Amino acid sequence: MQLPQKHSNTGTSIFAVMSGLATQHNAINLSQGFPDFNIDDRLAAALSEAAMKGYNQYAPMPGLPMFRNAICADLKTRYGVSVDPDTELTITPGATYGIFTAFTAILVPGDEVIVLEPAYDSYVPNIETNGARAVVVPLMAPGFGVDWDRVKATVSPRTKAIIVNTPHNPTGAVWSMDDWNQLAAIVRDTDIFILSDEVYEQLIFDGGRHYSVLQHDELRARSFALYSFGKVFNNTGWKMGYCVAPPAFTQAFRRIHQFLCFSVNTPAQYALTQHLADKLQPIHEVMQAKRDLFLSLLSDTPFTIHQPARGSYFQVASYERISDLPDKEFAIWLTENYGVATIPLSAFYSNGHDDKLIRFCFAKKEETLTEAAARLRQVR
Ligand SMILES: Cc1ncc(COP(=O)(O)O)c(C=O)c1O
Repeated sequence: MQLPQKHSNTGTSIFAVMSGLATQHNAINLSQGFPDFNIDDRLAAALSEAAMKGYNQYAPMPGLPMFRNAICADLKTRYGVSVDPDTELTITPGATYGIFTAFTAILVPGDEVIVLEPAYDSYVPNIETNGARAVVVPLMAPGFGVDWDRVKATVSPRTKAIIVNTPHNPTGAVWSMDDWNQLAAIVRDTDIFILSDEVYEQLIFDGGRHYSVLQHDELRARSFALYSFGKVFNNTGWKMGYCVAPPAFTQAFRRIHQFLCFSVNTPAQYALTQHLADKLQPIHEVMQAKRDLFLSLLSDTPFTIHQPARGSYFQVASYERISDLPDKEFAIWLTENYGVATIPLSAFYSNGHDDKLIRFCFAKKEETLTEAAARLRQVR
């Protein structure tokens, strides 16, 4: 019997490899992107309250109305934009699912999608699983800005979509409004869709700001915008997110969604509705303190920081003063010999491009970061 190869990424994901190695060597795991501290007690309480109150059966296909209303009010407050909860917003089991569903709604075999690499590792397999081809444009190290001339030169009659991500995993780069304007100029007078992955929207540092595609009227009209609560409320394991798109796009999205997942975790929707009303310390303040601590701890290790993360919860570092091993081998060596697990940046390139950089996740408790730095200080 033949099992079709739906996409070209056949190996075990580096995230599984590094987390496995971290366990095996009792290493501090700064590889995968998730916090090692617990969620707010009120959110945990709201989840059990939901179960006790009977929010345990299928939710409506687009999401609980009160939840969609609360998200739209939140988007209004944070971005000043009006989103119709009935026709423009769909609750999803995480952003990765939202990205896959949006691709499935728009792609047909033969289409091309432009991907800026390094990139979150689901994009290319999602595109290929839908019979389309990813056309890659590299971002420019060390700042990882976009070479807009190169993007423009890559557009072809087959380009169906461009997927973008700001704040950016793995590099921590953040787009300016000028970036959005450059993108708008390229897609103007075309039928190119935009997928805007904004899962780190609230993780912005140094007084910077995140511009959402929703704030760019021209682009919003051709975009699916994807969000995740995991990165906002530190509950990545809940896999809860949403997709905002114009009404016709939302209809197409829901045509796929209703037969893929149909309805998303009801008690989590109830709990997140309650939590959106809670008074919270902004997550960027919490994460800024962690980024600053991590940078100061790294300063007396042999690692080099070319660019402090401006957003997300990842810091890229160079090991040029330590080794000239390929980045994957270096990350394995570091885990085995010094007990700190990281992700090699080549994992975010479909061709394995290697600039000899690794990515640390700093969404960790202070003691985790301090202990990791103590180990990194020993590296020779
Ligand atoms: C850029 C990016 N998009 C999407 C996701 C996944 O979001 P979710 O857990 O909601 O699927 C991640 C998680 O690491 C990410 O880094």
